[in-house]
Amino acid sequence: MYKSIIRPIFFLLDPEKVHHISFSLIKMLSKIGVLGLLKPIFVVQDQRLEREVFGIKFKNPVGLAAGFDKNAVLYNELSNFGFGFVEIGTLTPKPQDGNPKKRLFRLKADKAIINRMGFNNEGVANAVARLKKEHKVLIGGNIGKNKVTPNNEAVQDYLICFDALYDYVDYFVVNVSSPNTPGLRELQDKEPLTALLMRLEEENNKLSAEKGEKRKPILLKIAPDLTNDQLLDIIDIVEDTKIDGVIATNTTIERTGLTSDPTLLKEAGGLSGKPLKDRSTEVIKFLAEKSKKAFPIIGVGGIHSPEDALEKIDAGADLIQIWTGFIYEGPGLVKKINQAILDRG
Ligand code: FNR
Repeated sequence: MYKSIIRPIFFLLDPEKVHHISFSLIKMLSKIGVLGLLKPIFVVQDQRLEREVFGIKFKNPVGLAAGFDKNAVLYNELSNFGFGFVEIGTLTPKPQDGNPKKRLFRLKADKAIINRMGFNNEGVANAVARLKKEHKVLIGGNIGKNKVTPNNEAVQDYLICFDALYDYVDYFVVNVSSPNTPGLRELQDKEPLTALLMRLEEENNKLSAEKGEKRKPILLKIAPDLTNDQLLDIIDIVEDTKIDGVIATNTTIERTGLTSDPTLLKEAGGLSGKPLKDRSTEVIKFLAEKSKKAFPIIGVGGIHSPEDALEKIDAGADLIQIWTGFIYEGPGLVKKINQAILDRG
């Protein structure tokens, strides 16, 4: 029904408007109890899907990637689609509008999206207020810096978000890989990245000791456009800073092998979806092999089918996430992936 009725209607409309319409629709279906009734269609419950990764027990390994529920408004409702975890954010200390519209483009022929949203979000305090209710799903908190914050003061922005979200998320993601905040990806360089992660780990140890709780896992989200040398640096950095793992990958600035309208391909921003699949898998495989699987990896990028998901797992991913595939293939994709994982045994 999604591909034959809902998607054709949605794809006639502006992509960012559709995002807002879907949110209202999901909220409404939840309020009148329909979403709860639909839940059995989407959820696969089976002990064999459970995964213990970086000290957390996941009901299943399929998550919703960051950028979908940036402001933590829909995480409980989205859990009805069968996700094992939902990542909120990227959040910044202060609210910010992001880049001027239009900033989200569908590349239908390529089953892809280009976005240059630019961390549009309502700020971490608003998200925290929404996270104070009961959580029906594990939540990752993806954090970043405001556009106006210069890179030499970026650590402070990440710390503000880290402190604010500490009691309300199950794991953290340090996002230094979005192509849409000028200069952000420079924070992936060895020196600033080590300093940033060391400081966050220090804060993590301090807060966990104060609260008498386990420390919160911290993951690093990386770009698919890093060179092999940079990926080797990442392996060293994970080891040196003792963070818990890596999310590979964010969107790419590459535009090769695409067949969509050339004017669309010229749009600046990060490309996600099918054309990203192979590169993201390659990055996962490289990290897993070169590190001898020293840390957990969440694999994300171009998963549009159960086979794509299994490919990521075979490459070394412990958990996977989807975003663009959720839009193109529909919410049934989550169940199909979980079922395929079960069927393979
Ligand atoms: C994203 N993504 C993203 N990632 C992140 O860490 N913080 C963010 O705020 C966003 N925002 C965002 C907006 C939009 C419109 C898209 C399409 C994507 C990246 C996302 O989490 C994921 O890493 C990539 O999209 C690759 O996965 P898919 O989309 O190919 O499954």
